[in-house]
Amino acid sequence: MESSRNLSRIDPLFERNLSLEAVRISEAAAINCWPWVGKGDQMAADRAAVAAMRRVLNNLTIDGTVVIGEGERDNAPMLYVGERVGCGGESVDIAVDPLEGTQLAANNASGSMAVIAFAEHGGFLHAPDVYMKKIAYRTPDGRAIEGVSVRNATGDNLQRLAKGLGKPVDMIHLCVLDRPRHAEIIATARENNCRVTLIPDGDITAVIAAVSPSNPIDCYIGTGGAPEGVLAAAAVNCLGGVIEGQLLFSNEDDVRRARNSGIDDLDRLYSLPDLARGKTTFTATGVTDGPILRGVHEDESMIRTFSVAMRSHTGTVRFLAGEHNIRRKPFPEIS
Ligand code: FBP
Repeated sequence: MESSRNLSRIDPLFERNLSLEAVRISEAAAINCWPWVGKGDQMAADRAAVAAMRRVLNNLTIDGTVVIGEGERDNAPMLYVGERVGCGGESVDIAVDPLEGTQLAANNASGSMAVIAFAEHGGFLHAPDVYMKKIAYRTPDGRAIEGVSVRNATGDNLQRLAKGLGKPVDMIHLCVLDRPRHAEIIATARENNCRVTLIPDGDITAVIAAVSPSNPIDCYIGTGGAPEGVLAAAAVNCLGGVIEGQLLFSNEDDVRRARNSGIDDLDRLYSLPDLARGKTTFTATGVTDGPILRGVHEDESMIRTFSVAMRSHTGTVRFLAGEHNIRRKPFPEIS
């Protein structure tokens, strides 16, 4: 089932417009959860982002299916996996994380953002909400470095990465989620005298940093959410770079959810085209200031937003600043 995903091609002009139209969607989510930033209530912030994202999505002339969303239908009232959105049109698959870094937003900490990605129908892995081991990096020729894999020991990965990137291992700059489960990765990186950036949350941003030529981070490595892995892959498909993932299952319920998503081989390694393929777009709007995007800023009459919109078809990456006049256009959604 996994390998039989067929892509339905979408109209090129439509796809071009969709990548910009997506900015309205992530902007709405970011603006609507802004009142909750720093208020310590991550659920309320997430709910507000979800409600706004769904409202704007439903105004789009698409026949959209959420394949990466807020969870299973029974647990997620909105943007649940399988939900159909849009008011009719081209058939597209949608991956959303209306508030990536819910805790960051609740604490007004750096790096939360609203994220949405589109693919041709069949273009995204239907990843269940389990953990995924991930590794992402960029090479000059865009090809994977032999032997660098989530399956391999951290020390071997670092040595091979250094060789492949043509720099000494102590010049490798890693980004890792600061979690006890990553103690071995961090200790091995320290033994090799690598530079390690530890982040509290937000591994979509970390993957983007690792594959962006302008960013000093060479590699993101570690375990985070599988849905975030698919969204990050949508960005890698636009930016270029290497990403590999492996799903992790901690109990029978995880396995059940994977099987329900059509995953037969539980041990499989997923490379970029297995995670996101064909034409994809990736769009994010900053909620709090972060390494890639500024967050939402507000004064008496204006809300300012900062977004990035990418398309895999051309590789164009646009940074867009929005000035939203709240006197003329109040945002009614806030819940
Ligand atoms: P949320 O927005 O759902 O809070 O996710 C934030 C995040 O840091 C992701 O970027 C990452 O993939 C995942 O959580 C890691 O999971 P955990 O917090 O359980 O270690």
